[in-house]
Amino acid sequence: MKPVALITGANKGIGLEIAHQLGKRGYRVILGARSTERGGAAAKVLQAEGIEAESIELDVTKAESIAKLPDFIRSKFGQLDVLINNAAILLDNDGPPPSATDPQVLRDTFETNFFGVFTVTQTVLPFLCQSPAGRIVNLSSSVASSTSILDPVSPLSEVISPAYQASKTAVNALTVLLAKEPAHTTIKVNSACPGPVKTDQNPKRGLLSLEEGADTPVWLATLPADGPNGGFFNSRKPVPW
Ligand SMILES: NC(=O)c1ccc[n+]([C@@H]2O[C@H](COP(=O)([O-])OP(=O)(O)OC[C@H]3O[C@@H](n4cnc5c(N)ncnc54)[C@H](OP(=O)(O)O)[C@@H]3O)[C@@H](O)[C@H]2O)c1
Repeated sequence: MKPVALITGANKGIGLEIAHQLGKRGYRVILGARSTERGGAAAKVLQAEGIEAESIELDVTKAESIAKLPDFIRSKFGQLDVLINNAAILLDNDGPPPSATDPQVLRDTFETNFFGVFTVTQTVLPFLCQSPAGRIVNLSSSVASSTSILDPVSPLSEVISPAYQASKTAVNALTVLLAKEPAHTTIKVNSACPGPVKTDQNPKRGLLSLEEGADTPVWLATLPADGPNGGFFNSRKPVPW
């Protein structure tokens, strides 16, 4: 059977392009979208290109929405091989200094960017464990690299989006912790930075195309058995933590 990939936040942007590229490689793709209409419209675009795509209403901040995933996967596909944790929000672009961050902004950001990633992963992990080559790709960002934040000559050290940066650093921690869990011997878990891609999240600083942004996540989703596990990559190269 063709492998199956679930991509969260796949109705637009990098998530939709990841689904597109995986679909072109023969994967059956499940597009998670918090709007049924937007998810359905995105699935139709892929289907028109001959890709096996289905959408599911999935809000990663809502437990009852996530809880519907196992039945959906079991009844429609019978397996899951790849999870792309792509859905995220950026509420504090050019935000205040870290010490002035609104705690509610921090909480809301973590609800989507961290707890969403954790809960979706925990929910579909049994399927990935049954796959001969389960792959989890967590969309992170180089602006969450503590090494770069502390490097005065790095342009990344000038970025001030404290809630977003902290949430993605937490996602990176989840990546390494899950990657080394002994029960997950056939699963690879990696973080991917897509680079500065022109999307609704990054309309001002975006330089790269969607195709370029999706490249590293798709590479990590399709790694061979001897590929890396527990790493953080941008342009297929390691990013310092
Ligand atoms: N663009 C960049 O330069 C850049 C750089 C580094 C990392 N990233 C990361 O790459 C990933 C994709 O970003 P993007 O630029 O493609 O962003 P985007 O265009 O803003 O798309 C974000 C997607 O996430 C969805 N989403 C947000 N909250 C959600 C929720 N609670 N439940 C389910 N879906 C939700 C959005 O759905 P709606 O359409 O319903 O809002 C949308 O489909 C993110 O993890 C982002 O942090 C992006």
